[in-house]
Amino acid sequence: MRLVFLGAPGVGKGTQADKVASLNGLLKISTGDLLREAVRSQTPLGLEAKSFMDQGKLVPDSVVIGLVRDKLSDPSCGKGFVLDGFPRTVPQAEELAKVLVDRKISLDRVINFQVSREDVVKRLTGRRSCQKCPATFHLDFAPSKVSGICDRCGGPLIQRSDDQREAIETRLRVYDEQTAPLISFYEKQGLLSNLDGSGSVETVSQNLTKVLATRKTA
Ligand code: AP5
Ligand code: MG
Repeated sequence: MRLVFLGAPGVGKGTQADKVASLNGLLKISTGDLLREAVRSQTPLGLEAKSFMDQGKLVPDSVVIGLVRDKLSDPSCGKGFVLDGFPRTVPQAEELAKVLVDRKISLDRVINFQVSREDVVKRLTGRRSCQKCPATFHLDFAPSKVSGICDRCGGPLIQRSDDQREAIETRLRVYDEQTAPLISFYEKQGLLSNLDGSGSVETVSQNLTKVLATRKTA
């Protein structure tokens, strides 16, 4: 199974990507997680990406394309992958197509997560992320067992710098301008399936399983 998860910030791509990857033995490739890891490790790439991410702007295409190309050559991609948050621009989607052709593989499905703006803002403002690992929680919808402590690794939970109101507004605008055009890009290729991303994490996960079991058509 080779999937792309598309959707505005906060629609639940990362949450569902974790589930679908562990249920099906897929490699989750999240450009956001890879970039945050690079920022934490203070690599040259991380230092370049940080100011874009803090402001809610996109990191240059060349940087993220390089990250994804490396990951797609990982042997753990064998059973398939789920791309979470990539591609995010038409040039990224075109580059991805070239990489897949080189590897003689193709995408099975692009899942377009649909959630109201009001819900997206609630999900983002209440999100808490582990400072040490990629785990995320929500103050109301997915609280950690011990307040402020990561269930997975015991690290401290913090609010991502781009989960502040001003950066959220920028991210939503950037999504409308640069990422939403990918909906028609993939629709034209017959790869797009819409997913109702409202409702609880469990409900969305069940909807996703149903969508993945049906034939391709939005
Ligand atoms: P990235 O990390 O990809 O952020 P994003 O797309 O803005 O998406 P989020 O991670 O904020 O949301 P999500 O859809 O994963 O939702 P989640 O599951 O966490 O990118 C960050 C930055 O990196 C970008 O701004 C950019 O600078 C850079 N970047 C990354 N990729 C790039 C690319 N390809 N090109 C250029 N730059 C790139 O859920 C959100 C919250 O809601 C959580 O708290 C969760 O617990 C909760 N939640 C989830 N599902 C539900 C539910 N069903 N009900 C209630 N709560 C829920
Ligand atoms: Mg995410």
